Amino acid sequence: MVLRHSSTLFFSSSSSSPLFFTKINSSRSFTSIKMERGEDNGAKKVFVAGATGKTGKRIVEQLLSRGFAVKAGVRDLDKAKSSFKPDPSLHIVRADVTEGPEKLAEAIGDDSQAVICASGFRPGFDLFAPWKVDNLGTVNLVDACRKQGVNRFVLISSILVNGAAMGQILNPAYIFLNVFGLTLVAKLQAEKYIKKSGINYTIVRPGGLKNDPPSGNLVMEPEDTLSSGSISRDQVAEVAVEALLNEESSFKVVEIVARPDAPKLSYKDLFASVKAHIN
Ligand SMILES: NC(=O)c1ccc[n+]([C@@H]2O[C@H](COP(=O)([O-])OP(=O)(O)OC[C@H]3O[C@@H](n4cnc5c(N)ncnc54)[C@H](OP(=O)(O)O)[C@@H]3O)[C@@H](O)[C@H]2O)c1
Repeated sequence: MVLRHSSTLFFSSSSSSPLFFTKINSSRSFTSIKMERGEDNGAKKVFVAGATGKTGKRIVEQLLSRGFAVKAGVRDLDKAKSSFKPDPSLHIVRADVTEGPEKLAEAIGDDSQAVICASGFRPGFDLFAPWKVDNLGTVNLVDACRKQGVNRFVLISSILVNGAAMGQILNPAYIFLNVFGLTLVAKLQAEKYIKKSGINYTIVRPGGLKNDPPSGNLVMEPEDTLSSGSISRDQVAEVAVEALLNEESSFKVVEIVARPDAPKLSYKDLFASVKAHIN
């Protein structure tokens, strides 16, 4: 069901999801809003792009364990079936972010209330893959959200995407990640598109990703602050899910790493410590 609506922000509370951004319709960018409850059981539904990736899979698992329904966007349905345990709240759909906004809008459907983008190019022979996936693919997802009136977007990006402006042009990580297909430049372009889209976003920029369990407390900084450090993918997934649960994460870019000596802070305080963007 789609309803016409003017430009208003709504937050809602429920026992299954304490706080979740349900819908916005900016008169500038949107013509419709979505139903507040996407599932028969009332769980909020989140579409995850790149759901079979190492971070994407963790995001799916954490969303399910926090009571969300999940639509897992994947390129390979067979791979996905063997990646996830059967769960009545999990729906797997085919979604290649390079195939354009129309197909992605179909995959997202009219029952998703937020999108988390955890896709990233897979190294191969196509030198343009980072541009196609990390820039244009994310842009396609944003456009698909507009088509479906989805107004909450969480992007897993990276520290150093704006390394040149930070004076980090000679940082080996900046050079390495750009030398093959301008990966960081591609991600920065996608970030700029999201910021201009009018959609409520949280851009999460992690340091180097590790498969190990968390080994330190989370450090959260404003954009263009961190130029080194690492973090467990489990923590990155947790930040993505917490972004949906914390109003303070709206319209923010947060850079994250983990450090053993960092104080343990609540997500509310961490997100509140970073300023929102006002266009
Ligand atoms: N590695 C690092 O240290 C690091 C640091 C900072 C940020 N990041 C970023 O963090 C994100 C997650 O990283 P990760 O290492 O956990 O990811 P990953 O394991 O490499 O997974 C990437 C995911 O993207 C999917 N994908 C690739 N091309 C796609 C397409 N055309 N359409 C839809 N999905 C596509 C892959 O699908 P398949 O499973 O089908 O291949 C996979 O699910 C990425 O954006 C990455 O650039 C990484």
